[in-house]
Amino acid sequence: MAGLDVIHQAIKTCKDCDLCQERTNAVPGEGFTHAQIMFVGEGPGLNEDKQGRPFIGAAGHFLTHLLESIGLHREDVFITNIVKCRPPENRNPLPAEIEACRHYLDEQIAEIAPKIIVPLGRYALARWFPGEPIGKLRAQPKVFDGITLFPLYHPAAALHNGGLRSTVVDDFAKLGALLAELSHGEFAGRGDYVDAE
Ligand code: URA
Ligand code: SF4
Repeated sequence: MAGLDVIHQAIKTCKDCDLCQERTNAVPGEGFTHAQIMFVGEGPGLNEDKQGRPFIGAAGHFLTHLLESIGLHREDVFITNIVKCRPPENRNPLPAEIEACRHYLDEQIAEIAPKIIVPLGRYALARWFPGEPIGKLRAQPKVFDGITLFPLYHPAAALHNGGLRSTVVDDFAKLGALLAELSHGEFAGRGDYVDAE
């Protein structure tokens, strides 16, 4: 889709915040250009920065596994982050960086027009619900600007705290049920795929 390509090209050469200085590659995001579900993480890590692709390290493998647990493949969804360039040493993104990068996600959402957006973890959640704890809002659908938000714990949280793993798996099952409900059992199959190149 031309619109998404244009946005992704702009991200790859963006210098709108200091995160451009140490990045190897910006990570615009990837997936189905008409995805019904969009996942929004925090920001690229080491592997993502090296390859310019989102969620390809340990948290990404777990995310792929979780998608498969509800019958989805990465190609069926769109995966991106709040900030598109890696914060040095994986530190948390700063408010000014989040703000500078914000319009790219707005533009991606407008192009893809997903039915469901899944903020993964507290930085993504804060974009729609600032100051709300993820533990309180997780796995509860909330309609925002006509799109259903369904916040979930970040998959990395379950890797750091094994006790969360079954919660994350159960929450994903609820996401699967929500998708089935919203798409009336008709899951839109794969089509145009935009990769990170
Ligand atoms: N964690 C994130 O939040 N995003 C990625 O792309 C990878 C790990
Ligand atoms: Fe631009 Fe976003 Fe990268 Fe900052 S994080 S340089 S705003 S693409």
